Amino acid sequence: MKFLYLEEIDSTNKYAKNNINSIEDKTVVYTYNQTSGRGRLERKWSYAGEDNIYASIVLKPSSEMKEVYSNLTQLLCVVLAEVFEEYKVEPKIKWPNDIKVNGKKISGILAEAVGINDNNEYFLQGLVLGFGVNLNAKTDFLSKINQPATSLNIETGLFIDKEIFLKRVIDKFCLYYNKFIEEGFLLIREDYIRRAEFLNKEVSVKVFDKTYEGIAFDVTQNGALKLRDKNNQEHILLIGDIL
Ligand code: BTN
Repeated sequence: MKFLYLEEIDSTNKYAKNNINSIEDKTVVYTYNQTSGRGRLERKWSYAGEDNIYASIVLKPSSEMKEVYSNLTQLLCVVLAEVFEEYKVEPKIKWPNDIKVNGKKISGILAEAVGINDNNEYFLQGLVLGFGVNLNAKTDFLSKINQPATSLNIETGLFIDKEIFLKRVIDKFCLYYNKFIEEGFLLIREDYIRRAEFLNKEVSVKVFDKTYEGIAFDVTQNGALKLRDKNNQEHILLIGDIL
């Protein structure tokens, strides 16, 4: 992996997307001053200070879009969980790719694809896997976020070295990456499920304008969520947000 450090930027994802052609495959774009971070579903990712992580991994696996690419967020999620465990905390995954510690969000992932449509054919220019991690956020900052949130320093009682944390994440991601592209979600399914907090629970999942309610009972070989509603009907959800 190559690293591209930016002194200050509105959003590492936005920067990576806007500069996709000049950024090489396997580059980590990162900053410690992100002024306008973005989250999933048009939400924002607030700036928690310079001792936290704001990074985007740029990948250019092929010019055609493959289904496995959408699972890369789940790979990054497992990788992040494994790194959190090195700090002796117990991360839980909220499908598809949020990480919580003690019931509070500590990290979020935003994946975006950049491509061009030409004569009804889609050419993928690159994938941008953005992630934010609360490493040393202050309690007054966290209390202002509109959902329960925590930070690794609070969970461990220690100041966390951001460079070391970032390196651990990227090293681990590289270790899995090639094999993952070949084998897909199955490679990490067990590791993902082991840390899943949502399984066998009653959940509401928002998929665009529709909300599904039921028991989340499994994650498929492709990383989709299996839900059984009160009429005993099964739904396989590829994308969505557990409310
Ligand atoms: C979410 O939880 O909704 C995803 C949050 C993703 C935040 C990261 S911070 C670095 C990268 N740049 C952005 O603008 N967003 C992602």
